[in-house]
Amino acid sequence: MSTKQSTSEEYLNKVNEMDIPNIQPKELDSTDFFTVARERRSVRYYDPSYKLDDSVLREILETAVLAPSSSNLQPWRFLVIREQEKKEILLPIAKNQKQVSDASAIIAVLGDIDAYKNAGRIYGEVVEQGRMEKEFADFYVNTINEHYGSLSEEHATNVALIDGGLVSMQLMLAAKAKGLDTVPMGGYDQKQFIETFNVPANLKPVMLIALGKGVKAGFEKNRLPLDELITEESF
Ligand SMILES: Cc1cc2nc3c(=O)[nH]c(=O)nc-3n(C[C@H](O)[C@H](O)[C@H](O)COP(=O)(O)O)c2cc1C
Repeated sequence: MSTKQSTSEEYLNKVNEMDIPNIQPKELDSTDFFTVARERRSVRYYDPSYKLDDSVLREILETAVLAPSSSNLQPWRFLVIREQEKKEILLPIAKNQKQVSDASAIIAVLGDIDAYKNAGRIYGEVVEQGRMEKEFADFYVNTINEHYGSLSEEHATNVALIDGGLVSMQLMLAAKAKGLDTVPMGGYDQKQFIETFNVPANLKPVMLIALGKGVKAGFEKNRLPLDELITEESF
C-alpha cells in the first residue's frame, strides 16, 4: 500500500477520476421535501454555458434565508461570484476544483460576527408590524447587545458558522427544488480567498457553494447506519 501523502488538491480532485455513471443529475418530477432531500447530491460537473436566471438565484436565496438563526440575527452574508474572470481567479484558491470555473455561480457563504448590531432593526420591524410589544423588544435587543457584544471573536465565529451551515443547507435544497445542483466546498485556501476578494474582517467564511446546471450526477448516497448514530437519553 502506498504511503505517499497526497496534497489537498490531489485529494479533492481525485474524485473526478472515479467511475461515476455518465448520467445527468436526476430531474425531479416532484419538489416534495423528502424527494428533494433524497435526490440532492454533491455534483461536480456543470454546464459552463448554462445561464442562471437572476430571478431563480434570488428565489433560491430568498428561500435559504428562511433558515433559523441564533436570536434571528441572520448573520449570513453571500458573496455571489458569477463573472467568469472572477471564477478563474478563485479556481486555484479552491485547489483547482473544476466546478469552480464551470458552475454558473459560486456563492461564498459568510457569517457576520457583528450581526447582533442589527438586532434593533430586526426587532423594531416586528414591533412596527404589531407582533411584539415595544417593551419586550427593547428588553430583547438590550440582552442581545450585551450577550453577543461580549462574546470572544472565537465564540462569535462559532455562532456565525452554525447559522451559516443552516442557511447553506437550505440553499442547496432550494436549488435542487429549482432543478439545479450544488456542491458545498471547504477545500479552498481561506486566507487567500479573504485577501483576494477583500472579505471584511467581520465576515467569516462558512463554505463556498457551486451552483449551476449539473451535467453528471454525483455519487449515490451512502450513509452510516442510522442506529449507529443514535444514542438514547444520555451518553
Ligand atoms: C463543509 C463541507 C465541505 C465540503 N468540501 C468539499 C470540497 O471542497 N470539494 C468537494 O468536491 N466536495 C466537498 N464537499 C462535499 C462532500 O464530499 C459531500 O457532501 C459528501 O461526500 C456527501 O455527498 P452528497 O453531498 O452527495 O450527499 C463538502 C461538504 C461539506 C458539507
